[in-house]
Amino acid sequence: MNTFIFTYPTRVYFGEGSAKQAFGAELDKVGGTVMLAYGGGSIRKNGIYDEMKTLLVQAGKTIVDFDGIMPNPTYAKVQEGAKLVREKHVDFILAVGGGSVVDCCKVISAQAVLEEDIWDMEYVQGKNPTTGIPMGAVVTASGTGAEMNAGAVITYEEKIWKGPIFGTAAAFAVLDPAYTMSVPPMQVLSGAFDTLSHAMETYLGNSDQDNVSDDLALAVMRNTVVNMRRLLVDINDMQARSNLMWDSAMAENGILKCGRLTDFQAHQMEHQLGAYTDCNHGQGLAVIHPVYYRHILKDAPDKFTRFAKMVFDVDTAEAGIEALADFIKECGLPVRMGELKSRVEITPEVLRKVADTCNIIKCNPRELDRDEIYEILMECM
Ligand code: NZQ
Ligand code: ZN
Repeated sequence: MNTFIFTYPTRVYFGEGSAKQAFGAELDKVGGTVMLAYGGGSIRKNGIYDEMKTLLVQAGKTIVDFDGIMPNPTYAKVQEGAKLVREKHVDFILAVGGGSVVDCCKVISAQAVLEEDIWDMEYVQGKNPTTGIPMGAVVTASGTGAEMNAGAVITYEEKIWKGPIFGTAAAFAVLDPAYTMSVPPMQVLSGAFDTLSHAMETYLGNSDQDNVSDDLALAVMRNTVVNMRRLLVDINDMQARSNLMWDSAMAENGILKCGRLTDFQAHQMEHQLGAYTDCNHGQGLAVIHPVYYRHILKDAPDKFTRFAKMVFDVDTAEAGIEALADFIKECGLPVRMGELKSRVEITPEVLRKVADTCNIIKCNPRELDRDEIYEILMECM
């Protein structure tokens, strides 16, 4: 095991009805003005908005509404939110939504208490924020595990860049699987595939032998696949939704990453693809993963063999990657670039730009160069 420090900042309230329990225990600790932040309106349709409002009013809070946080949240939206927090003297941010809402709020929280621009601070000066407006997260679409850490993924449109910005971790998170029941089926599966990807990318990073992080990652992968298959039979299977919600949290709460390096090269390619196309995160990963893994198969043959056996019950590394590709098809997720919803036509020129601007993970299983990344992306066409 590599050396590490593990601390965990977020109290998790899991299960049906846990928002009431969480608010009862948490809201007395924060000031009176709460920013209720959400996305494009799903929570208004499914009743979660009204439920949040009632609970906040019962707790004696004044509500400042902040809506319209889009999938793949933008830097401009972060700045708009931070301005509102300052103007209205917000004491607490309640993020209610999927990964996009939670991520946007994590960075709003940090930006709101900074004099300087947070992107410049992190990417020019190399410093991360140390404080922010306290926040909580109510998860309505699971998969990213965004509620479990301080890292956010933000699209900076002017820079045509999508990547990590550190913000503030939620003090508490509400994980109520019932809130996910109105998520459209394709988003449910895309989110779950994102969870699978997180565990695979963590597992494929360098680790020493018989590392418990590897074993845990394989267990999360297997459980995610089993429960995604249950959803293919019955998309309303609450037990499966519930299992997937905790898989999502487990994959990103840091436990799988202890004492090891991680890969996350597929994520780097997908994020930059998202910067150019605004494609759905889980679906972009579904297109990229099998092709990327065929490229790096020879660099981690033992790991891929173990993955094949433990996750898909097949015997060889090659068969494991093909089982992953078949599973993506079985779920009805996109398998080619042309199947992704994109704001521009995905041409070789676009993919060249993605390859030339995405982050390259230096260590594992093998450092790719930009031409090979372009080759991988072209093979996804
Ligand atoms: O905007 P609303 O109206 O809420 O609709 C959303 C959105 O259209 C909808 N939705 C959410 N809850 C719903 C619902 N629809 C009906 N009923 C509900 N209960 O679902 C759509 C997608 O939501 P979004 O939050 O964008 O999805 P997801 O949770 O997959 O988040 C994706 C974002 O998270 C980033 C991705 O890059 C992307 O920007 N990630 C964040 C990570 C992190 N912070 O750790 C890690 C990930 O690797 C990922 O990069
Ligand atoms: Zn992801």
